[in-house]
Amino acid sequence: MGKVISGKELSLKKRAYMKNEVIKLENKYGRKPHLAVILIGDDPGSVSYVKGKEKACLEVGVKNTTIVRPKDITQEELLSIIHDLNCDPYVDGILVQLPLPSHINQTFIINSISPDKDVDGFHPQNVASLYLKQPGIIPCTPKGIIEVLDSENIDIEGKKACVVGRSNIVGLPVSKLLLDKNATVTIAHSRTKNLKEVTKNADILIIAVGKPLFIKEDMVKPGAVVIDVGVNRHPITNKLCGDVDFDNIKDKASFITKVPGGIGPMTISCLIENTIECFLKHVED
Ligand code: GUN
Repeated sequence: MGKVISGKELSLKKRAYMKNEVIKLENKYGRKPHLAVILIGDDPGSVSYVKGKEKACLEVGVKNTTIVRPKDITQEELLSIIHDLNCDPYVDGILVQLPLPSHINQTFIINSISPDKDVDGFHPQNVASLYLKQPGIIPCTPKGIIEVLDSENIDIEGKKACVVGRSNIVGLPVSKLLLDKNATVTIAHSRTKNLKEVTKNADILIIAVGKPLFIKEDMVKPGAVVIDVGVNRHPITNKLCGDVDFDNIKDKASFITKVPGGIGPMTISCLIENTIECFLKHVED
């Protein structure tokens, strides 16, 4: 069986390190980094993600404020909350949990967050910085994926990487990070023809499509590194599961991540790290 990389263990180590850093920062600057999270509505998935973020803030000693509003909030009301947080000198990071209700223009909301408080790295200014290799905030899940690969000293340079999924949150930014590490990157998606032929070529296979157990053994090259970003409900057991049929693939991969306990916890640890980075920029500017 390939090695199962525990994102959970790695994320706990990262949180322990950051906890120490936050103590030092509070001593130096007289306050802790502060993350504001906005949750609209009561979608169970979003509520659970926000709880995970609150727990991580508590573990690391980062201040957290969660603002919860009903799903019929108007766009103007939401913009006004973001405006107040943008102006608050004691708020370092702002995260609006996605997806938003359909009457709210998600792009408009993302664009209204001050780029220097955009801990998700979704604002066009941060997206441009990533693509132009300029300093900026790197999205949490892609950052977590690269850290997982680095933790096992997995060589990326010159390797064939295939990213399945082309979302702004995961697929596109992780492809850019892999390219920056000199991988030869293929981005596959729902319209890719002969997907199996594409994924079977990959030394590093990253899947972020949101389809339970979508990747089967015959889609994976022997010895491939398989990173599962999916968070789905199993169609039969209703338990959390990834985009990869783990049991079907574990013997074929050299390294593999699991769901839960894989990329998810790393995403949240990277969010806390981004909050600390934003804090440092605020206090040092
Ligand atoms: N919903 C699912 N993933 C994310 C994420 O990374 N950030 C935010 N803000 N919402 C999400």
